[in-house]
Amino acid sequence: MTQATVKVGDLSADVATILVSQEQIAAKVRDLGQRISSDYAGRAVTLVSVLKGSLPFMADLMRAIEIPVQIDLMEVSSYGGASTETTGLVRILKDLSSSIAGKDVLIVEDIIDTGLTLNYLLRYLHDRHPASVRVCCLLDKPARRLAEIVIDYRGFTIPDRFVVGYGLDYGEYYRNLPYIGVLRPELYQSK
Ligand code: IMP
Ligand code: MG
Repeated sequence: MTQATVKVGDLSADVATILVSQEQIAAKVRDLGQRISSDYAGRAVTLVSVLKGSLPFMADLMRAIEIPVQIDLMEVSSYGGASTETTGLVRILKDLSSSIAGKDVLIVEDIIDTGLTLNYLLRYLHDRHPASVRVCCLLDKPARRLAEIVIDYRGFTIPDRFVVGYGLDYGEYYRNLPYIGVLRPELYQSK
């Protein structure tokens, strides 16, 4: 696994193109919130978010849901440092804080790329006997999928480009950009 030295200058100048605007994200989050609210009507849902990339999505999505919600946070690592390649290796850095037994769990993910992280997580959560587990992701990058994943709620399908912003990072930077952008390739290819 390579550790790139990330030289961050002007955040938005490092972005080659904006793939999903702030307005598009907001509209999609509202739409997903409404669908989730009606699908789970009469029940409560436990949102399990995967740190750190899903933090802005989780924060916005939970406020777009109108039924009772509980939240929990996990942190796993599938990428090391600034690398843009997945390893298939998943490590749990932060576990659930409460039991999900008997609960309707909705995993909130920023992006599904190879699907290996989520594949592992789904098995891990199923072992904790929830009533149900569904998946909500903001971005779906199907080009590099290695594990078959059923996505119940999908925000946007995007091409095979490395993206940053709205929680997504490169070398832990760019998470605070309010939109999803494609990073200039020369920023991570010149190693
Ligand atoms: P997967 O196991 O390959 O599906 O990887 C999922 C994780 O990889 C995501 O939760 C992100 O943290 C990271 N990731 C995948 N693609 C990108 C990207 O384009 N930009 C930033 N992070 C990404
Ligand atoms: Mg992630």
